[in-house]
Amino acid sequence: MSTHAAPIGVFDSGLGGLSVLRHIRALLPGEHLLYCADSGHAPYGEKTPEFIRARSQALTEFLIDRGARAIVIACNTATAQAATYLRERYGLPIVAMEPAVKPAVAATRCGIVGVLATTGTLQSARFAALLDNHAGEVEVLTEACRGWVDCVERGELEGPAVRAMVARHVEPLLAAGADVLVLGCTHYPFLRPHIEALAGPRVAVIDTGLAVARQLVRRLAEAGGAAEPGTPGQETFWSSGAPDAARRALAALWHAGAEPQRLSV
Ligand code: DGL
Repeated sequence: MSTHAAPIGVFDSGLGGLSVLRHIRALLPGEHLLYCADSGHAPYGEKTPEFIRARSQALTEFLIDRGARAIVIACNTATAQAATYLRERYGLPIVAMEPAVKPAVAATRCGIVGVLATTGTLQSARFAALLDNHAGEVEVLTEACRGWVDCVERGELEGPAVRAMVARHVEPLLAAGADVLVLGCTHYPFLRPHIEALAGPRVAVIDTGLAVARQLVRRLAEAGGAAEPGTPGQETFWSSGAPDAARRALAALWHAGAEPQRLSV
């Protein structure tokens, strides 16, 4: 393996992508990671495709300007609306993500799976194509989980109101018989304990953070290798959200003392 100084750029509509960043950090301990949280414009799930493409382009250029040698779109909604657009315009590796429909279809025993995601992801042409290509005979039920992203953005993960909000979208899928639940938004793994508590041990809960990190490792290997793991990499954070709220939420979701810089693109 050769040593590379150039960092990896990661972005999301907000802090949800930290659920992907933690897998990237675990697999690539020597890499410098740049993370942009577009919290000032979240949630993307309710925005137009044009808006999401423009924000995704601005964040990609911001990260490239800071030396990123690869980009990870740690957001299903931004992938659905902007991954193709960005790949057509920028030559560096761009790793993107989509709800884990294919693994869910392979895992279901009863033939019913539930996908939890944003309205933007569920209404996208990319999601329709994913179902066409992989659902086959399996019934794929969907839930657009209103409120979940805002809650995670506030770093608010506990309490009766949070549990009730989670139950509102998980219970209909369980009542319909789903035995696999797909977390199709990177904010949702932060609510996973509540989802699993409702679902119980007979229902599989799948998220794609680890698969995305593995894909990044493969893409870096093709492009020349990962940084030496002997020298620990650092994380640098930017947020377009209100500074105090961004600091509090980052401390809750990453670790105490993590400080976001102001993202003003
Ligand atoms: N975290 C994002 C995703 O994976 C989007 C959340 C949002 O801003 O609506 O879809």
